[in-house]
Amino acid sequence: MRTLKFKNGDEMPAIGLGTWKSGPKEVEHAVKYALENGYRHIDCAATYGNEEEVGNAFAEVFEKGAVKREEVWVTSKLWNNAHRKEDVLPALKQTLKDLQLDYLDLYLIHWPVAFKSGLKGFPESDEDYLSLEEVPIIETWNAMIEAKKQGLVKHIGVSNFSSKKMDDLLSKTDDKPEMLQVELHPYLQQNDLIEYCTNKGIHLTAYSPLGSGDRSDDMKAADEPSLLENPTIVKIAKKHGASAGQVLIKWAELRGTAVIPKSTNEGRIVENLQSTGLKLEKEDLEEIAKLDEHFRYVTGEFFVTKGNSYGNIYDE
Ligand code: A2P
Repeated sequence: MRTLKFKNGDEMPAIGLGTWKSGPKEVEHAVKYALENGYRHIDCAATYGNEEEVGNAFAEVFEKGAVKREEVWVTSKLWNNAHRKEDVLPALKQTLKDLQLDYLDLYLIHWPVAFKSGLKGFPESDEDYLSLEEVPIIETWNAMIEAKKQGLVKHIGVSNFSSKKMDDLLSKTDDKPEMLQVELHPYLQQNDLIEYCTNKGIHLTAYSPLGSGDRSDDMKAADEPSLLENPTIVKIAKKHGASAGQVLIKWAELRGTAVIPKSTNEGRIVENLQSTGLKLEKEDLEEIAKLDEHFRYVTGEFFVTKGNSYGNIYDE
């Protein structure tokens, strides 16, 4: 499989198993099954509420010895309730404890959004938020750098940042993010952001590559389009004797990004990794290029309350 190469020589396998929306009961088996069937990259986050179960899977697989810790790329993310400098390391240490690991390969600031320190659950009013004036991203970022210095994480980056927010952060630090994780799929191709990151030497990871159809209803627009049922994607899949999911994953891989399809189903976990064998042709890619609608499944509107400053989170 293709890998993304980092300056220190580390390599991140392009396809990873996503764990957002994977219930605690299912995720333990899914991660074990994925590692036993060739996955070497697992994408986690504290807010997914399942890191303890992911950690049980790591412990069991590494204990058996067939897969070693150093062969697996593990990403996790700092939740919005721990952006203050004194909160970052404790949050990271909790994630390491839950995942039963000594270090992460990659740690990301999950959103450019700050909640009150330690807030449990989702904010219910403006008072539950801190503004980015109160906790500037650079404050959080400097704590991320400290985590790297202490050897708790090998690489650091951000998620859900616009190029404007990236520019702002880059202007304030010499230790720039090595990864930007964003929503990325044929309906949201993010060509400008890819060009921006390529120019700055920042890698990208594509989340919701299959359209995240298992999001809760309150996160879904009534008439949102289905990527997996898109006629062009289905037609290309049929032509190659592949599944629509495999076409979407291969497309992401071919664009040089990492991609983290979520599945807790044994058959689909294997199917998704087997997309590496698919050969998409030039005309397939030209057809997929026409599908861009700048459509977001994850709008970020759930962070907007009447009086807070988190409207227009993507700066567009
Ligand atoms: P399941 O976990 O039952 O396999 P995303 O990665 O964009 O968040 O999408 C995840 C959703 O896509 C889940 O509902 C997942 O269901 C489903 N899914 C994962 N792989 C495939 C596939 N190859 N074909 C169809 N649906 C898939």
